[in-house]
Amino acid sequence: MIQKQQHSLLNKAEEACDLLRKHIESDHVVRIISHNDADGISAAGVMCNAIARQEGKFHVTIVPRLKDDVLAKILKEKYKLFVFCDMGSASLTPIGRLKGDVIIADHHQTIDSKAEPPENLVHVNPHLYGLDGTSDVSASGLSYLTVRPMDYKELAGLALVGAFGDMQCSNGIEGINKIILEDGTGAGTVEVRDDLKIAYKAQEPLYKALAYTFNPAIKEITGDEEGSRTFLEKLGISYGIKFTELANEEKDLLKEELIRINPNIFGSTYSIPQEIPQLRNIEDYSKLIDACGKNKKHGVGLSICIGDRDGSLKEADLLLKTYRDNIVQGIGWIKKEGSIVLRNIQYIYTADKKRKKVMGTLSSIGLELEILDPEKPVITLSRMDNIVKISGRTTKNLTEKGVNLGSALEDASKSFGGTGGGHNIAAGAVVPYRNMENFLNLVDDVVETQLKAS
Ligand code: C5P
Ligand code: C5P
Ligand code: C5P
Repeated sequence: MIQKQQHSLLNKAEEACDLLRKHIESDHVVRIISHNDADGISAAGVMCNAIARQEGKFHVTIVPRLKDDVLAKILKEKYKLFVFCDMGSASLTPIGRLKGDVIIADHHQTIDSKAEPPENLVHVNPHLYGLDGTSDVSASGLSYLTVRPMDYKELAGLALVGAFGDMQCSNGIEGINKIILEDGTGAGTVEVRDDLKIAYKAQEPLYKALAYTFNPAIKEITGDEEGSRTFLEKLGISYGIKFTELANEEKDLLKEELIRINPNIFGSTYSIPQEIPQLRNIEDYSKLIDACGKNKKHGVGLSICIGDRDGSLKEADLLLKTYRDNIVQGIGWIKKEGSIVLRNIQYIYTADKKRKKVMGTLSSIGLELEILDPEKPVITLSRMDNIVKISGRTTKNLTEKGVNLGSALEDASKSFGGTGGGHNIAAGAVVPYRNMENFLNLVDDVVETQLKAS
């Protein structure tokens, strides 16, 4: 059954590829609109790489969301082909008004069901075929499927960068992502091996690398340089050198002790062997691009993805350092402040500029470290003048019990003149600040209904 569904999605992507090819051959500039996170940026990257290899032209814009003003601008453009990556499925009606052809490569569950399927549009979304767009394929993967018939297996690694960015690979690679992985391993452009999943192994001193390992999170080490150093000192492991420089006995001891804290710390790691050292590990690559996205330097992230690295790598590296520091400080903040607990959810609020950028990430890490109660979904609220930006995160355990934050935030935000959506495990919304409290109470009720219904 799954295979049949996957086949249908691949067929749809082939149809999108035919359309893309037709426009490249006609020398049309391909208009790409994509999302501002690691997945969206790498999705645009995959598309641009393939178009460039076909000697085509593109024009990319990276946006946080497909808001009305963004759509209004795009609707005035005269391009012959528009490609929407990591967005678009929720806006089929306005997109259908575009004069040119359209490809949507989106993995979100919210699909504009009122829309008549427009003739000029090829819609590549796993949810249309009963496939899971939260864990089995990301937007960069859908971009890859769209250009897959052109046979650029060297892009498989970049296609997985987005999947890592969207946290799809924490418990192994499944579904469509696996098909992409096999393309890569078969061609030698992606390598998998069992190893410790420590971040920045060849870049940072070990105690920092451990403290900056967010995925998986390690209790009393992640986000805590002091804690990390103490842990290593107790074991007699040199903490000031890089992991790659440790003696084999030290590596073995470290592995044994880390597994005791979190067994997920050891497992498959994925790399792009042809890449420069800094980008070789796919998880590290996705963090670097995410740091660009979170700091609104999308051009820097996209340049890295398309191989234009003079200057961009250095800039991204600085952004990454700040981004990591924000997360580390944020973890300290959550440890101190905790969350405010309602009947079925818990929430954290901030108006702090730096913290706002990492609230979603902080809640995922907080849940994993159990600083926040994993039995209740976390809603984060970041005030921006008259509105609040919301991120929701929960656990697989709760989604299996019926929680769907995507639909909860979509429904609750609509009741207060806001917008929202996303996945069952991770979602977001925007609502007027004055409605914040009522919104939270409604989300609390909706989650209760979801839990009771299943
Ligand atoms: O915009 P988009 O769908 O791409 O973002 C997905 C979000 O869901 C990311 O922020 C990602 O980190 C989060 N996520 C998560 N846990 C999962 C899957 C996704 O926090 N298991
Ligand atoms: O959820 P969100 O998009 O904000 O996540 C942003 C980044 O944080 C992603 O690159 C994701 O891999 C990372 N992250 C992590 N560990 C977590 C939660 C998020 O590494 N537990
Ligand atoms: O912003 P954040 O990383 O928390 O978003 C998590 C998920 O919610 C993403 O998939 C994003 O596309 C979705 N989202 C949405 N509508 C919003 C905000 C976020 O569908 N207004």
